Formats: sequence, C-alpha cells, structure tokens
Amino acid sequence: MKRRRTNIAILDANTMNEPATTYALGCSDEEIMRLDRQSASIESATRLLLRASGIEPGMRVLDLGTGIGHVAMLIAELVGPKGRVVGIDNSTKLLDVAALRAVSHPQLRFTLGDVRHWRDDAPFDAVVGRLILFHLADPLAVLRHHAAALRPGGLLLALDFDLRASRAEPAVPLVDEALGWIDAAFRHVGASPAIGTRLSLLLEAAGLAEVQGFGVQGYLAPNDPRGPALLSGVVRTLAPQIVAAGIATPEQIGIDTLEARIADAVRSSASVVLPPVLAGAWGRLVRA
Ligand SMILES: C[S@@+](CC[C@H](N)C(=O)[O-])C[C@H]1O[C@@H](n2cnc3c(N)ncnc32)[C@H](O)[C@@H]1O
Repeated sequence: MKRRRTNIAILDANTMNEPATTYALGCSDEEIMRLDRQSASIESATRLLLRASGIEPGMRVLDLGTGIGHVAMLIAELVGPKGRVVGIDNSTKLLDVAALRAVSHPQLRFTLGDVRHWRDDAPFDAVVGRLILFHLADPLAVLRHHAAALRPGGLLLALDFDLRASRAEPAVPLVDEALGWIDAAFRHVGASPAIGTRLSLLLEAAGLAEVQGFGVQGYLAPNDPRGPALLSGVVRTLAPQIVAAGIATPEQIGIDTLEARIADAVRSSASVVLPPVLAGAWGRLVRA
C-alpha cells in the first residue's frame, strides 16, 4: 500500500519553559484498538456536532491532536473534494497509522506537531479538536493560539468529554469504583475529566463570539458489551498510573477479569450504562 506523506516539523525549544502536556494514554497497539472502539462509540455524536457547528464543503480545516485520524476523516467527508484537512499530533506512531488509513482521502494531510505551538502559513476556515483539551495543562492558551490562526469569521470547535456524567442506572458499585479510579488517575496527571462542561466558557475566554453548543450521551442496554469494554479499556490503559499513584492496587483492579465482572454486575442489576457525555462548543472569530 502506498504511504502518504507525513510532514515533520516539531517541538521547538519554547516547550522547555511551560507545563508539560499530561497525555496519559500512550500509543500502544492496545491503545490504538481502544481509540477505534471509543471513536466508533462517539461517531454519531461527533458527526452531529460537526454539522451543527457549520463545517461545510470547501472549507480548509485543522484537526488538533488527530491521533489515528478518526475526526479528520469525518471532516474530510464533510468538506468534500474541494476542501482540505490538516491533522496534527505529536505521536509519529499514531500519525503513521492515520496516514495509512487515509490513502483514499486525497484532501487529508497529517503533520507531526505540538498543538501548543504549531502554526501553518495560511489561515484556516475552521479548527477542530476532539478529546485533546482534556489532556492539556493550559487549554485556554491552546485555544487562543489557534483562534489567532483562523480567517476572520472562522470557526473554532472543541469536542470533549464530561466523564463525570458517566454512570450506570440503577447504580452498580463496580462501575462507580472503576469510574472513580479513572477520574482520580486523570486528575493525578493534571488532566481535566469534566472539561466538557466548560468548553463554552473556554471559547469565550479565548475571544470567540457567538459561542454555543450541546452535549450528547448514549444509553447502552444491560446486555450491550460496549459499556463494559469501554470502561475496562480505559482502566487497562490507565492501570500503571492508577497503581503508581496509589489509587488502587493491581489486585483491587483485577484487570484480566474486570470487563467480565462489570458485564455480570450490569446485567444482574439490569442497569443501563451511560458513557461520558461528548460535549461540543463552537464560536467564531470576529475581528473588529
Ligand atoms: C485521546 S486522543 C484523541 C484523538 C482524536 N482527536 C480522537 O478524538 O479520536 C488525544 C490525542 O492528542 C495527542 N496529543 C496529546 N498532547 C498533544 C500535544 N501537546 N500536541 C499534539 N498532540 C497531542 C495524543 O497523541 C493523542 O493522539
């Protein structure tokens, strides 16, 4: 299979004096599979929010923290053959996977870069970031940086989780416990698990106008395997941090049986699993 070009332009010396990014999820093969499962579970919500925000055919769009390119590919469909999409990420491994998967999207290009600093020569019609602000020590600075890269009237769309909205209904103690480990581990590394609730405020603080947005949440039936798989997948990825921070021991987590135990508990209490809310907020750059 022919590989697409990946531009290399990264990490300048300015990064030395600012808070480190806190990306806790890594880029192992297992994490790539988890990203695929997670993306499938929020694809409809993402499409809805992309359309509602005003992503249209012909736009030139930047995708921040593109990972393996799930959002960039959805945007490529919306902007069509006359549009352009640039996906940036600081993981060469994830970008290599993204580039291989995107061979049938000629309007899509992936570039190695740090979202805190990366800047293109030409302005964008829209900048989109899904599940990236969550991990950044200073999300407002990153929003300001990219707002300045928009053409006048351009669109900035932030999509992120409110993990604290996740639960089983009726409540399941093991689900609550696993969600507690995840919340504590993300906070321990400086991430913001409820940032989805604050996206509109961040966009306004970044100087965007006409800010609006909404959140979307799924409801998974008691026998739907996706709820236990999504929850145990995040715990598996975060297990080293959970253990290192003293949040739970490997024995308490019991990672090899966690998915099956959650599935049993959810089924036996006939609980519906509510994954995190995917919140979206967007605003426009209005220059005087
Ligand atoms: C949870 S993943 C989300 C990927 C994708 N946006 C999605 O929604 O499926 C976060 C991504 O941000 C990237 N990332 C984290 N910090 C970054 C930084 N400072 N600059 C560029 N990419 C970063 C990670 O490598 C990872 O691919």
